[in-house]
Amino acid sequence: MKLAIAPGDGIGKEVIPAALFVLDALGLDIEKIPLDIGYGKWERTGSALSDDDMDIIKGCDCILFGAITTPPDPGYKSVLMRLRKELDLYANIRPFVPLKKVTLPCAKEFDFVIIRENTEGMYSGVEELHENVAYTTRVITRKGSERIAETACRLAKERKKLTIVHKANVLKSDSFFRDVCMGVAKKNGISYNEMLVDSMAYDLVLHPQKYDVILTTNLFGDILSDVAAAVAGGLGLCPSANIGERYALFEPIHGSAPDIAGKGIANPIAAILSVKMMLEWAGWEKEAAMVMEAVNSALLDGITTPDLGGKYSTKDVSTAVATRISKGVD
Ligand code: NAI
Ligand code: MG
Repeated sequence: MKLAIAPGDGIGKEVIPAALFVLDALGLDIEKIPLDIGYGKWERTGSALSDDDMDIIKGCDCILFGAITTPPDPGYKSVLMRLRKELDLYANIRPFVPLKKVTLPCAKEFDFVIIRENTEGMYSGVEELHENVAYTTRVITRKGSERIAETACRLAKERKKLTIVHKANVLKSDSFFRDVCMGVAKKNGISYNEMLVDSMAYDLVLHPQKYDVILTTNLFGDILSDVAAAVAGGLGLCPSANIGERYALFEPIHGSAPDIAGKGIANPIAAILSVKMMLEWAGWEKEAAMVMEAVNSALLDGITTPDLGGKYSTKDVSTAVATRISKGVD
């Protein structure tokens, strides 16, 4: 497998090496292609992601991505949005499950996945900025809705219940999304319910255990997954996969965290679990399970970064996880 490595900016440069350290402990045959993209590159060259970078990425199977700081330029176009669009990474999959010994602010038991449409909706890039008015066009297509609903239905077959989240009481584009998703669920024989996104945000905090697969549009999925990260104990713990037909990109859901960047204290678990999702995608199921077990074992032994109340560094945590993999977790 050929893997492009794009740490990006801020703590991306800390958590991605930490995650690679864990990946290396598995001794798999993976060719790694380093890539420098993001704000740092934009400052130096005026471009955060060049066409040459895109060509290199298209020569790889998948990407391990850290985070990118948004440059202070109103004309800046998001690197992640370009990657998601050009590689057609239409399914953003974000699992949330309690990890060992992590303090949870709300419910103690839950296991759900947010499936977010990743290429259209509010992030379609159809925008106009004028002096006294600005427009963002929310594009929802039948094809885009059908294929993300099919992805959610495949997962719902294993995980039981599907919840379609929208704001169809106000937005026509959302009643369209809801109707297409319901049609796909019916065709696949998947039982489903629907929720308005505002009450979903409320209920996800109070009763996350009620949900298995949550299917929603781009912006709603972005916001709900940060709500879910709080429910799961913190942004530093939550991974994601961006999947298309040909390519995939794996990234922690957090950003570049400039407030803690350079201190060596960023929690690498979200990045390490993004590697775990990559292993599952590539068919290395056993290795993926080993990573999960090693992460939980390190947490049980109290080896945590300050965001979880610990005193350990990013490196300490990745070393603890990698050591447990090398020794064989028991
Ligand atoms: P953020 O996720 O970077 O940070 C939010 C808060 O969570 C901060 O207090 C940070 O210290 C903490 N945090 C995040 N990850 C952590 C980790 N692994 N360990 C410990 N603490 C962690 O979001 P924020 O501050 O809104 O954005 C910062 C920059 O990142 C902005 O330029 C933003 O545009 C960019 N961003 C990039 C994303 C990406 O590349 N996928 C996603 C979100 C934001
Ligand atoms: Mg976000």
